Amino acid sequence: MDARQYAPATLRNREPILKILSEVLPTNSNVLEIASGTGEHAIFFASELKSCRWIPSDVNSLATDSIVAWKNACPVDNLELPLLIDVTQKNWQQQVKNHAINAIVNINMIHIAPWQACLGLIEGVGQILPNDGILYLYGPYKRDGEHTAPSNVSFDRSLRDRNPLWGVRDLEEVVETATTHNLKLQQVISMPANNLSVIFSR
Ligand SMILES: C[S@@+](CC[C@H](N)C(=O)[O-])C[C@H]1O[C@@H](n2cnc3c(N)ncnc32)[C@H](O)[C@@H]1O
Repeated sequence: MDARQYAPATLRNREPILKILSEVLPTNSNVLEIASGTGEHAIFFASELKSCRWIPSDVNSLATDSIVAWKNACPVDNLELPLLIDVTQKNWQQQVKNHAINAIVNINMIHIAPWQACLGLIEGVGQILPNDGILYLYGPYKRDGEHTAPSNVSFDRSLRDRNPLWGVRDLEEVVETATTHNLKLQQVISMPANNLSVIFSR
């Protein structure tokens, strides 16, 4: 059986995200990707960013099975086997303590998970990253409590219909949380389809 899963959005957003990652990731990064999903991003970014070691992960074992299947189908030397990481679990960061992680990438998770996942992600990242380490977030955000586009209003509604704990987050709340964990906002970059790249450094 082929466990590979497909998320069509990854084909649309991977090039714009790659452009930003190639500018902001430290050279020779050990990158931990939280919430890798299907693994299509991991395969693509690892193959394009050859100087990085890419460590994918997800909370869902169907996702980690998919990442392994993608890795088998498209071998990439600098892509590690996926880790099962749930950022809502206390001390999840202990799972990567021997990996010398200096960059963390998280794409399209914060709004499709309870707020607790954002809090857990940022708390762990604050403990993992060395000085000058990078946290890269990608997704839709509200600014000062307001949606930035009509399409984000309906997307937010559809998320909350699926799960009342999900929803498009307010960028300022995410930044405030990051600040309490000693992460400094470096850049907010507008991306296609009303998404943002949000970059923090330690
Ligand atoms: C919309 S998918 C995005 C996947 C991938 N990053 C992408 O852009 O295609 C959201 C992912 O977040 C993962 N996720 C949700 N809650 C999580 C948690 N507490 N810890 C880690 N991953 C989580 C889900 O399993 C899912 O793979």
